[in-house]
Amino acid sequence: MFLKHLELKNFRNYEDINLDLSCGLILFLGNNGTGKTNLLESIFYLSNGKSHRLATQNDLINHGSDYCVIRGIIEAGGEDKLIEIQLNNDGGLKIKLNKVFVKNKSDFTSSLATVIFSPDDLRIIKSSPFYRRNFMDDILEKTDKNFLSLRLKYQKILNQRNSLLKSISGFKVSSSNSTMEVWDEKLIETGKLIIKKRLDLLKLIKIGFVKYMNYFFEKRDADIRYIFSWDRFESNGNFSNENPASYSVIDKAFQEKLSYYFKKDIAIKTTTIGPHRDDISIFLEGSDIRSFGSQGEQRIAAICLKLVELDVLAENINEKPMLLLDDVLSELDLERKHLLLKLIGNNFQTFITAANFDYLKDIDLKYCEKFLVKDNSIIRY
Ligand SMILES: Nc1ncnc2c1ncn2[C@@H]1O[C@H](COP(=O)(O)OP(=O)(O)O)[C@@H](O)[C@H]1O
Ligand SMILES: [Mg+2]
Repeated sequence: MFLKHLELKNFRNYEDINLDLSCGLILFLGNNGTGKTNLLESIFYLSNGKSHRLATQNDLINHGSDYCVIRGIIEAGGEDKLIEIQLNNDGGLKIKLNKVFVKNKSDFTSSLATVIFSPDDLRIIKSSPFYRRNFMDDILEKTDKNFLSLRLKYQKILNQRNSLLKSISGFKVSSSNSTMEVWDEKLIETGKLIIKKRLDLLKLIKIGFVKYMNYFFEKRDADIRYIFSWDRFESNGNFSNENPASYSVIDKAFQEKLSYYFKKDIAIKTTTIGPHRDDISIFLEGSDIRSFGSQGEQRIAAICLKLVELDVLAENINEKPMLLLDDVLSELDLERKHLLLKLIGNNFQTFITAANFDYLKDIDLKYCEKFLVKDNSIIRY
């Protein structure tokens, strides 16, 4: 995949931007707050149909304007795709692919992929399980056309079960409550499908993750494991080495634990068992990187996860996704900066932002384009 042309009208801080690109490596240099992340956000939007930040549609529209346009030409699958997206501040959205209106975002996003890595992604390693589940589920949403509806269905069932828990007072109601039984069955049926899809994905992620970690940290033993909600309560952090061999074991454990924790669920009025409470743990030399890893190791681990995401998406669309590196290189030590740049090489079209590119002076950058981001404009230099 290759972004050849980008035009922005009233997008964030940009009133009018027009860029032609011809290189695999593109550098955006600019001080803080000049609009570098905004620029990458627009590129991300062109292939994902959404912002990578928790932004509403109106956030993307320049203050003082009532619409914005992102227009780009992406070469993918041997052909140029002209994508035009107009966002209106009344919530309206118009998308054209090769000049023809399309109804759904998936009409253009399903054959495209862009992976962004920004300092916020450290949350996948350091922060709550929510970010690690989202990491997996967002990949599944991109690669499995049934996953989004499954995710929504599960959420709906979970909400229903939680409402029912809230309506039960005291401990009088036993787990044989028939309405509850119905929701439990649905929760297990849908939840185990989510778990199965995640475990299948995690097998792939693990292989790639270990490979990349060994690239950055030679001879260091890395591992990644799925942690079930019930194991999170019961293991005190000591998780078994193996994920369960068969899905029937999961099915059985899910049923047993759901009824075992029923009283607790009533007491705290929320469902504690299920994939919405699962997690993954990442280990370096046998220790959980979340608690024991250095800042640098955690950063590299987050980058490795993103590199695996890139590979998984590449496999899915049969095309190399674009890679956006927002302010991340400057945080790495020189050796690992160089390793990362070497790995990216000519493999992907990569966009890198930084406030300072001094560290690139020893690197042969014949094939790159450089832009200065300043005063709400983007100047080639
Ligand atoms: N909708 C908008 N309209 C106008 N300016 C915006 C809008 N959204 C964000 N900005 C401005 O963009 C700037 C931040 O841009 P950002 O891309 O995060 O900077 P950088 O990544 O270079 O540090 C801020 O000055 C902010 O006010
Ligand atoms: Mg930024």
